[in-house]
Amino acid sequence: MDIKIVEERLNEIYKLIKLSLFKEASEKIDIVIEDNNINNEQIKKIINNLLDILFKFNEDRKHKEAIDTVKVISKFKDYIKDKKIENIILNELELAEGKIFLHSKPRSLQVVLTTMCNLDCIMCGLPQAHYVMPDSIKKTIIDYMPYLESVIWQGGEPLLYKGFKDLFYSASKHNVEQTVTTNGLLIDNDILDVIERTQGTIHLDISIDAVDKITYAKIRRKGDFNILLEKIDLINKKMLKKSNQNFMLGMQPVIMKSNYKQLDQMIDFAIEKGFSKILFQRLYPSYLAVNEGLNTDENNLVVEKIKEYKEKLERQQKLINIDSNLEYIKDNLNESFVCNKNAEDNCNNINIEQNNNLFCLAPWKRMFIGREKIVMPVCHCDVDGIKVDNIDDIWNGKGMIDFRKHMLEGTIPNQCNTFCKTSGDCFERIRRTGKC
Ligand SMILES: C[S@@+](CC[C@H](N)C(=O)[O-])C[C@H]1O[C@@H](n2cnc3c(N)ncnc32)[C@H](O)[C@@H]1O
Ligand code: SF4
Ligand code: SF4
Repeated sequence: MDIKIVEERLNEIYKLIKLSLFKEASEKIDIVIEDNNINNEQIKKIINNLLDILFKFNEDRKHKEAIDTVKVISKFKDYIKDKKIENIILNELELAEGKIFLHSKPRSLQVVLTTMCNLDCIMCGLPQAHYVMPDSIKKTIIDYMPYLESVIWQGGEPLLYKGFKDLFYSASKHNVEQTVTTNGLLIDNDILDVIERTQGTIHLDISIDAVDKITYAKIRRKGDFNILLEKIDLINKKMLKKSNQNFMLGMQPVIMKSNYKQLDQMIDFAIEKGFSKILFQRLYPSYLAVNEGLNTDENNLVVEKIKEYKEKLERQQKLINIDSNLEYIKDNLNESFVCNKNAEDNCNNINIEQNNNLFCLAPWKRMFIGREKIVMPVCHCDVDGIKVDNIDDIWNGKGMIDFRKHMLEGTIPNQCNTFCKTSGDCFERIRRTGKC
């Protein structure tokens, strides 16, 4: 059959599914499959399109429709050979069915490799924790690799972790999108070689809180601005040769009293040095940097300036993306949800119709593995520091199960309602989609 006719039929099928006309869509799909006229490329495209519809149903909390969409996708099961795609489908189905014990594997990880660091920044207490991720967790992460869509490597300084290159290799072998947040000073040719060869997308986010030597040295104690400049040059030289375009160099300043007047210089620096994005981060309260917090006027000034820059750079079509989490959303605090600490500790699934307005999808899709076996959906979901005993079972350990249960019962932890709900777009996106 003519490719054009097949395309038209498929578009018709997608429309029917979006309108929840599953019976009609299924009949038409049977005809397309029986015609036996679709090639592998088309199958891939069909599955991707159906997955997008499936994601959208769950994101809109239309879980019944999501379950019906999975039934439609199952008609192509003989063609799906990829473990990652199988896992995505099972995961979306388990979410839609309100399962709290999951047979699907996590799709995204955020991992603290070590809290050790070569620097001693004024606002960060992490190096004092002296944590190094044990090999047992490293092994668990490598087992998850074939199923993962993305992973964020965190520290301390992640490049100090001795198994970093193994994990990096393993993730790139399985085409996992990787984000590394680093102070940048330990980047070397070896790491850049791996980045150069990997097929998956790499976000290399370098924390740079000042673009002059004196302020840099004041904030990033033990850091050397000249070395940082050398490392950025090395990255630029090496990455110019990289054939695939899946490399993103990011700059991440934390905005505080010592640097909030230097926004213009930071943006000029980022453009000049070839960064593709800047994320201005708000300073989280730290007993170490009590005098560095901005007052409301200063914060508003920064927020306004970032907004102006965003608009200006968009108009000029400059290829740099500016993002920020300094905006503080005061409204909308819903006090009616309270943490139900007495929720029963069992694995019975809850009828999802009890709560078809799930507050957050993250507990089904992603997992943060912090220091001392602390496990939760995202690093900021800190409730009581949920420690797990058995690292083989972290994905279905008490911590993650409780989060899923709270979401289903509508008894969400306070942290979700206060910090997370007032922290801007990125956090909103995580709650709505379960993805960063
Ligand atoms: C803890 S660091 C770990 C990664 C790496 N060592 C680095 O500096 O990029 C992760 C990010 O948190 C930022 N950070 C540290 N202390 C902070 C604080 N009190 N408030 C907000 N961000 C902070 C760092 O600047 C960095 O961008
Ligand atoms: S480099 Fe990163 S981990 Fe190290 S002290 Fe600074 S912010 Fe903390
Ligand atoms: S709402 Fe926010 S804090 Fe709560 S589980 Fe989701 S991501 Fe974590």
